[in-house]
Amino acid sequence: SQGAQDFLPRRGGLPSLRSAAGGCRGCALYRDATATVFGSGPASARFFLVGEVPGDQEDRQGEPFVGPAGRLLGHAMADAGMDRKMAYLTNAVKHFRFTRDEGGKRRIHKKPSRGQIAACRPWLLAELAAVRPEIIVCLGATAAQSLLGNDFRVTRERGVLLGPQDLPEHNAMAERPEAAPRVLATVHPSAILRAKGEDRTDAYDEFVSDLRAAASEST
Ligand code: URA
Ligand code: SF4
Repeated sequence: SQGAQDFLPRRGGLPSLRSAAGGCRGCALYRDATATVFGSGPASARFFLVGEVPGDQEDRQGEPFVGPAGRLLGHAMADAGMDRKMAYLTNAVKHFRFTRDEGGKRRIHKKPSRGQIAACRPWLLAELAAVRPEIIVCLGATAAQSLLGNDFRVTRERGVLLGPQDLPEHNAMAERPEAAPRVLATVHPSAILRAKGEDRTDAYDEFVSDLRAAASEST
C-alpha cells in the first residue's frame, strides 16, 4: 500500500479527518486491528501530545490513551499542571500492531515499523494542521521519529524545548512552517511503567518535569 495520503479528505476539520481515517488502508495494520484510533481532544487545544501506537485497550475502545500508559500520562499531566481539556492526544500510528502470545490469547504490542510510521504520518500532519497547537510533545522515539526525523535522539534532547529554527531541515515539522509550534520530546509513559522501585519514581519525576517545561512555555 501507498500510505495514508490517498485517504485524506480534501476539506473539513477534525470530524471529517476522523471519519475518513476510519476507512484508511494506507498500510497493512488495518487488517488485524479492531478500530482506527484517531486523536482525541479539542481543535482549540494548546498542547498536542503524540504517542506511538494504540495498545490493546485503545484498540478495543477506539480511543487513545485509555489503558495503563494513558492513566499514567493523565496523572503526570495533572502533576505538571497541564490541563487535559486543553490537550489533544494522538499517536504516530493509528492502528494497533501486535503479535499473539503462544496460547494465542493475549495480544502483545509491537513497535510500528519505519514504513508504517511513514505511511501513517499524513494523518498526524493533518491533525497538526487542524489543531495548530502552541506546543507539541513527542512521547518517545516513535513520535519523535515521525515528526523530527530518524536522526533525532530522545536520549540526547529530551526535555529541550525546540523552536522551528532548532529543527533539522529534513523533518516533517520543517515541511509545515505555517504550523510552526514549538516541540519537546520526552520518554513514552510505558517506559516509566516498565521501571521498578526507586527508578520508577525518578523516571516519573523526570517525565513530569518535562511536561511542566512544555506547560509553562504556553501562553
Ligand atoms: N501507548 C501509546 O503510544 N498510545 C496509546 O494510545 C496508548 C498507549
Ligand atoms: Fe492507515 Fe495508519 Fe491504519 Fe496504516 S496504521 S491503515 S496508515 S490509519
